[in-house]
Amino acid sequence: MASPRGEFSSRFGFLMAAAGSAVGLGNIWGFPTNAAENGGAAFLFAYLLLAFALAYPALMAELIIGRHARANGVTALQLIATGAKSRAFGTMVGVLGIITVSFILSFYAIVSGWMLAFLIQPFAVWLGLDGFANWLVSDGVTRNALFVVVFMLLTILIISAGVKEGIEKWATRLMPSLVLILLCLIFYVMTLPGATEGLRAYLVPNFAALAQPNLLVSAMGQAFFSLSLGVGTMLVYGSYISKSENLPLIGSLVALLDVGIAVLAGLLILPAMYVALASGVEIYSDSGALIAGPGLIISVLPALFDSMGIIGGVVAAAFFALMVIASLTSSISMLEVPVSFVVEKKAVRRPAAAVFIGGVIAIISLVIVANFDVLFDSVVTLTTEMSQPLLGLFFCIFAGWIWNRSTILDEIRQGSPEAGSGFFWRIWPFYIRFICPIAILLVYLQQFT
Ligand code: PFF
Repeated sequence: MASPRGEFSSRFGFLMAAAGSAVGLGNIWGFPTNAAENGGAAFLFAYLLLAFALAYPALMAELIIGRHARANGVTALQLIATGAKSRAFGTMVGVLGIITVSFILSFYAIVSGWMLAFLIQPFAVWLGLDGFANWLVSDGVTRNALFVVVFMLLTILIISAGVKEGIEKWATRLMPSLVLILLCLIFYVMTLPGATEGLRAYLVPNFAALAQPNLLVSAMGQAFFSLSLGVGTMLVYGSYISKSENLPLIGSLVALLDVGIAVLAGLLILPAMYVALASGVEIYSDSGALIAGPGLIISVLPALFDSMGIIGGVVAAAFFALMVIASLTSSISMLEVPVSFVVEKKAVRRPAAAVFIGGVIAIISLVIVANFDVLFDSVVTLTTEMSQPLLGLFFCIFAGWIWNRSTILDEIRQGSPEAGSGFFWRIWPFYIRFICPIAILLVYLQQFT
């Protein structure tokens, strides 16, 4: 029998869960390096603009649809459809979301597995297990396979426990720790030589970069990935929000938290890179650009921690704990999408669904691990650059063109009775109907020109 639907027990619980989904490797790794590569504060400016003008309205569409339908993504979109065609469209968008998020999780878990291995390494050093410590930080199929499985097990464990006892409980523990570790690391790194150079690279805008067509594409991709949009994650979390919650308000708090933590992470990563440079670590690739891909996290920063002497181990453990926490609160939100679907549609018990689906995703991850050079980049591009923004666009079409406007307002009014005359309602309906779809489409198509 399917278990009854869960619900977040408090506003704080929802905020931590949704911000936990949003804040992930995308914020701590993706955003700062994207900014460093694309004109520093100019990228920040474009990102803020797109996050609030395009991603926030799309986030609201998912939250409203989810809370109204109180169901998984596929059922929710079918429910708000108005005829056979829009129902088929809803089924397609929901199913594509499930497929996309499962593949996102399959590559995300690989990178998160690296973070786990790097987190354990300083402890292995302290215990004098030098060979093991070395193995943990050396690239290899066995290490990658083992840690992807461990990471998926952690994700499955939390999701098996349900909305309150799993997602909410862990998000409310982990997210405050994340903020605390991040702040401590920023304060520490700022005291080191070279940090101000990094701040300059991050915060002094090069507005010429705004003219690069790729800047907007990167900023939009970053904003959609960062807010976990298009794949039904926010819809499913929205379906667990109490009817008495003020949706526009908590949606904007989630967006603010996500953007705020990305901006804060920039205050850590960029200064850390220039501190590394000051201590002799290479931070530029052969092409002269800053090292931004996996090399940044698994070679530049570890080299920096190594150069710090005894305290380096503590800083490394704190940094990788930060990464693991960020990953885990995101990965649980990804697994929740297919699990909620199977639990509700097929009347399977939650733990069984979590183990089965998590297991299938882990197998996909293992296939990618075994064929890393051929598969990894393509899976990332296909899911995050091709599929996710397009699905975000479909959600806007659903909320702006298919779903009945007065039902939307009724839904929002449940938690905020005066919403009909408020700022949000004056702007959002027009925005989600015209501005968002056109802007997303324009930016999306730009990547093919
Ligand atoms: N928002 C996460 C990050 O910034 O790392 C990634 C993510 C989570 C993408 C959940 C998609 C998703 F459904």
